[in-house]
Amino acid sequence: MDKFIVRGGKKLKGEVSVSGAKNASLALMPAALLASGISKLINTPQLNDVYTMMKLLKELGVKAKFVREDSFGENDIVELDTRNITSQVAPYEHVKKMRASVYVLGPLLTRFGYAKVSLPGGCAWGPRPINLHLEALKKMGAEIELTEGYIVTKSKKLKGAKINFDVSSVGATGNTLMAASLAKGTTVINNAAMEPEITNLAEFLSKMGARIDGKGTSTLTIEGVDELNSSEIATIPDRIEAGTLLIAAAMTNGEITLTGISDFYINSVISKLEDSGCMIKADGDKIYLKSPGDIKPTDVTTSIFPGFPTDMQAQWTAYMSIADGASKVTDTIYLDRFKHVPELVRLGADIQVNENTAVIKGVKKLKGAKVMSTDLRASASLVLAGLAAQGTTEILRVYHLDRGYQRIEQKLKVLGADIERTAGAEF
Ligand code: EPU
Repeated sequence: MDKFIVRGGKKLKGEVSVSGAKNASLALMPAALLASGISKLINTPQLNDVYTMMKLLKELGVKAKFVREDSFGENDIVELDTRNITSQVAPYEHVKKMRASVYVLGPLLTRFGYAKVSLPGGCAWGPRPINLHLEALKKMGAEIELTEGYIVTKSKKLKGAKINFDVSSVGATGNTLMAASLAKGTTVINNAAMEPEITNLAEFLSKMGARIDGKGTSTLTIEGVDELNSSEIATIPDRIEAGTLLIAAAMTNGEITLTGISDFYINSVISKLEDSGCMIKADGDKIYLKSPGDIKPTDVTTSIFPGFPTDMQAQWTAYMSIADGASKVTDTIYLDRFKHVPELVRLGADIQVNENTAVIKGVKKLKGAKVMSTDLRASASLVLAGLAAQGTTEILRVYHLDRGYQRIEQKLKVLGADIERTAGAEF
């Protein structure tokens, strides 16, 4: 199992490009199932979660491959040939690796009238239910049974319905949007997720021939059509990767420019970085950040887009651990998402978790130690802490990072970080 060795204290400087968004790709890829043909997804990041989704789609009969090299000499277009779908079953072996596998449910059911998808189960930081996905499909006429760990859904032709989500859910909005695109009649989704990844999905569906109004708002109206055609779309930039890199510069007294992303995607993070003393200039698809040196303690509370993302909560907690005073970080989306805290404490941070709030007393310096990754964003927070710490930090189990960050250590190295990947025997 690979690990990272980070020798902290290097100021990050320079320019680096942002990859395509993991969470957009994970919705765009299953959407290709809605049509028979060849779809192309441009700017797809090479990540383990993307490979897991490719494997799952292959299991269903899709021919999936990366076909174009990007400027780093790596491929960035995924081609999905859906002309010969042979199965509507998403097995446990794939779904257990990645919860986003549940995105195949809506497209398979609406196109083929049947889908059997393993229940995703728990997650590293607590329960992540899918009741809203199932309730919406039921309202559209699906019969749903839970047997032997699988969701088995059947329906003749789904019917348009009025769906009012009690909670704004990215996944449930995505699944309903895909299902409604081929349903009979009109579906209205109220309290729909407004995350840019969902808007990217809605744009792709429109290019495939779906009729969707209200993109980017909390009310989506979908007029079902009989058939969709395969198409192509560019994946939006990864706002969480961008936010993580900006914090890396802020924590190391650095000065960086990100390319390939506009401030629209991360205004909430930029505004909090400014509150903490950073100087930021956004211009077109570039974002420049200069670290404040002394970091002002700045509270954040996560919320749905355009609020501060839960996927940046762990990284912000790491940042505040070296602020000049005390701050609070509250997660309202996932109340238990604090697995990174005990590991940050091993690096010298002073953090107490009180219900869904981390109370952080900034320390002058973090000190390198051996720490363990527990999930994707927790791992990112440990890398950030390691970059700012005195001495050497060993981060074990970086496979969590490989699920969602493309070439993270290469990008950090370009910026001057002292970080290397080694094959570690520990697990
Ligand atoms: N929820 C329900 N019932 C449901 C679905 C969600 O109660 O049926 C609740 C959840 O428990 C949570 C809230 O609704 O409190 C929001 O969850 P959401 O459904 O929006 O999350 P998701 O679709 O499972 C996506 C991202 C996550 C990100 C969340 C929130 C993908 C593949 N995953 O998950 O990304 O944290 O939205 O923004 O898009 C990550 O990238 O590290 C990651 C975990």
